Amino acid sequence: MGQQVLDEIREHCEDLKLVGIAGKKNIVALSTLAKEFEVPSIAISQKISREESTIFPEHCQIFIGEHALEDLVESVDCDVVVVAVSGIAALTATLKAIHKGITIALASKEILVIAGEWIMAEVRKYGATLLPLDSEHNAIFQCLETRLPFEASALRRVWLTASGGPFLRYSCEKMASVTWQQALRHPVWHMGPKISVDSATLANKGLEFIEAKHLFDLQPRQIEIVIHPQSYIHSMVEWIDGSIMAQLAAPSMRFPIHYCLFYPKRVAASTQTLSFYDKMRMDFEAPDEAQFPCLRLAKESLSCGNAGPVVFNGSDEAAVEAFLSSRLSFLEIPIVIGRTMEALLPMKASSVEDALEINRFSRKRAEEEIHKLMRQRA
Ligand SMILES: NC(=O)c1ccc[n+]([C@@H]2O[C@H](COP(=O)([O-])OP(=O)(O)OC[C@H]3O[C@@H](n4cnc5c(N)ncnc54)[C@H](OP(=O)(O)O)[C@@H]3O)[C@@H](O)[C@H]2O)c1
Repeated sequence: MGQQVLDEIREHCEDLKLVGIAGKKNIVALSTLAKEFEVPSIAISQKISREESTIFPEHCQIFIGEHALEDLVESVDCDVVVVAVSGIAALTATLKAIHKGITIALASKEILVIAGEWIMAEVRKYGATLLPLDSEHNAIFQCLETRLPFEASALRRVWLTASGGPFLRYSCEKMASVTWQQALRHPVWHMGPKISVDSATLANKGLEFIEAKHLFDLQPRQIEIVIHPQSYIHSMVEWIDGSIMAQLAAPSMRFPIHYCLFYPKRVAASTQTLSFYDKMRMDFEAPDEAQFPCLRLAKESLSCGNAGPVVFNGSDEAAVEAFLSSRLSFLEIPIVIGRTMEALLPMKASSVEDALEINRFSRKRAEEEIHKLMRQRA
């Protein structure tokens, strides 16, 4: 995601200026980018030695360590903060950006999944603008925007589209032996490892279901998921009169990124979009929750107290890490999530700090389930 944001800035360098950048492990790449974009401020979320810091240009102000993201957001004067850090590592930094009342383009859906009710309350309190960067939520945002001021009672439901991932047509037997390398080969989107595995299990669609609930203040019954393998329609809004509005574009994150960076203006872009004369076809089907139990578990988590999604998120994080290190099989991912949810829920979180603690605890509890499964196999 970050690379595509940089491509957008490269293309529109007369209008967009990068004033801060963050990363964790890949400090050589950060230093190259610092030079290319002449970035004045950099955050590195892990400790680095004095010697390592010499690879950055002298003009750079560098924030290092566990609070680096917050320090960066606090010190840099900017119009838009793009949050595209994997997981919840940028939660506190996102809150800092909200407190500045600026625009936040949010890709890190996990932040809303575990702390949506507090994040949305702070957005309202501080008058910040929270723009969804996830292509589905960005599509819904664009459809709703056509009806501003938005009248909630006129909305019947939203339709989140899902590509179905690389294993859409796989039988359970075939899915039992898929490797993490296969799971990373998404047919439509090129993404980081965690979200790619989540797309293969449809846990990602479950996280997006919860994200949509918070972003658009919806009841779970107002959110439908439909498999649309071509990913031309990014999502849809259905009004109470039965009229449905969809947002279409070629499947590229450049479209939502462009939209967010220039919001509320529409600015010309060169990214190739859909060509309706190229024998374009669009298919739709209902998701099979027996084949993809992570989707069912994510929905169920919403009826297990406000910590339900936190436990779903934490256990999914641990299970995906275990799958990526070949400690868990693909079909064991939902088993770990299901058992962790069963052991811990229902539960209530009373603050963001509480939610973070429950997320940590769920990861730990899921690790125990992973070890149990590994022992059974040995
Ligand atoms: N990729 C997509 O098309 C897409 C679409 C929709 C939503 N999203 C969401 O966007 C987020 C990122 O996804 P991705 O596919 O871009 O993942 P990714 O390729 O794994 O990239 C993650 C980025 O986060 C940085 N990072 C990780 N931990 C950090 C920390 N503690 N502090 C600072 N930087 C940190 C990494 O930096 P280093 O490499 O230096 O460690 C890397 O640049 C996820 O929440 C995902 O769900 C992605």
